[in-house]
Amino acid sequence: MSFLSASLSRVKPSPTIAVTTKAAELKAAGKDVIGLGAGEPDFDTPENIKDAAIAAIHAGKTKYTAPDGIAELKQAIVDKLHRDNGLEYTTRQVSVGTGGKQTLYNALMATLNPGDEVVIPAPYWVSYPDMVLLAGGEPVIAEATLESAFKLTPEQLEAAITPRTKWFIFNSPSNPTGAGYSRDELKGLTDVLMRHPHVWVMTDDMYEHLAYDGFEFCTPAQVEPRLYERTLTCNGVSKAYAMTGWRIGYAAGPEPLITAMRKIQSQSTSNPCSISQWAAVEALNGTQDFIAPNNEMFKRRRDLVVSMLSQIDGITCPVPEGAFYVYPSIAGLIGKTSPAGTVITDDEAFATALLEETGVAVVFGAAFGLSPNFRVSYATSDAALTEACTRIQNFCAGLT
Ligand SMILES: Cc1ncc(COP(=O)(O)O)c(C=O)c1O
Repeated sequence: MSFLSASLSRVKPSPTIAVTTKAAELKAAGKDVIGLGAGEPDFDTPENIKDAAIAAIHAGKTKYTAPDGIAELKQAIVDKLHRDNGLEYTTRQVSVGTGGKQTLYNALMATLNPGDEVVIPAPYWVSYPDMVLLAGGEPVIAEATLESAFKLTPEQLEAAITPRTKWFIFNSPSNPTGAGYSRDELKGLTDVLMRHPHVWVMTDDMYEHLAYDGFEFCTPAQVEPRLYERTLTCNGVSKAYAMTGWRIGYAAGPEPLITAMRKIQSQSTSNPCSISQWAAVEALNGTQDFIAPNNEMFKRRRDLVVSMLSQIDGITCPVPEGAFYVYPSIAGLIGKTSPAGTVITDDEAFATALLEETGVAVVFGAAFGLSPNFRVSYATSDAALTEACTRIQNFCAGLT
């Protein structure tokens, strides 16, 4: 009998963490490494949010809280969903978790039975399929391609749905591609869902505020109000408010589902950090003024990276609508050989050779379910991005 659980054997370790670890090892060994793997803003948490956390400590808000969040934060979330998304929820329909990740995981744990299928568009955030597997379900991957700008078409969604489908996971703007669905594109998908009343939607709106060139963010229950009864709208403060380490995410949806998620949380992590919750109240209720200038900076960096990578023969780099990632294709480089003699058989070989031979750390596309590509996070300084893209250009020019 194996000591480790059977469900764990279905899961692989996070490839993004593996890349970050390898880059850190090379750095520790004295190598000049530029990391383009991190999925977090390089900005500091805004001062008003930090001050709210410090005030919470001094006010003694340091005890256990209700398992799925303090009333003040739930109200701030209700207000935010009304203000930004035109969605009406009560505080009883809101669950706060330890990061967006735990909120999604709670929802899957609360609903999946063996054999239940979850439709996940690829390229996907690395954790979706493994969270589904851990919760006992079956991920069904529906592959979006470069040709459709990495967006799932209604026909592809239709083809992926079976009588066993329980959830459709939707993420826009996307990690890892940055692709954002327009209202019409999303309506195409919600029309399909209207034909399949047994399928619920888990929408991961984590990158809502990180959108450029006037992209209008929209979320499924807003585009198709009739889906409200079977939609879990998930979001968090990690990315837009530069609060990845504070670990606060949230979800809003039908009350019985929220109650089930609370049960899981009450028997696992008890509650998200009390101090972080007070910081999140300030993030949502306080000034939003820093978002626009941060986005200006992200947009400039996106344009820099897209422009430099697009100059490379063999690389195709679409311009994404949001998040802080680009997802270039290296189809034109497959089969070539690096200066150190590595044959670029696939995107993993490309990323490994790039790291070992130039010190630039990126994440290979197979980790996100679509090859041959790689993900660049441009949430780092202009100087680092320019140097990294120059190294990628030189590396690719040296391939024979
Ligand atoms: C698409 C997406 N959803 C959820 C998360 C998790 O966010 P959190 O750090 O709040 O757990 C991430 C983080 O990388 C993400 O990219």
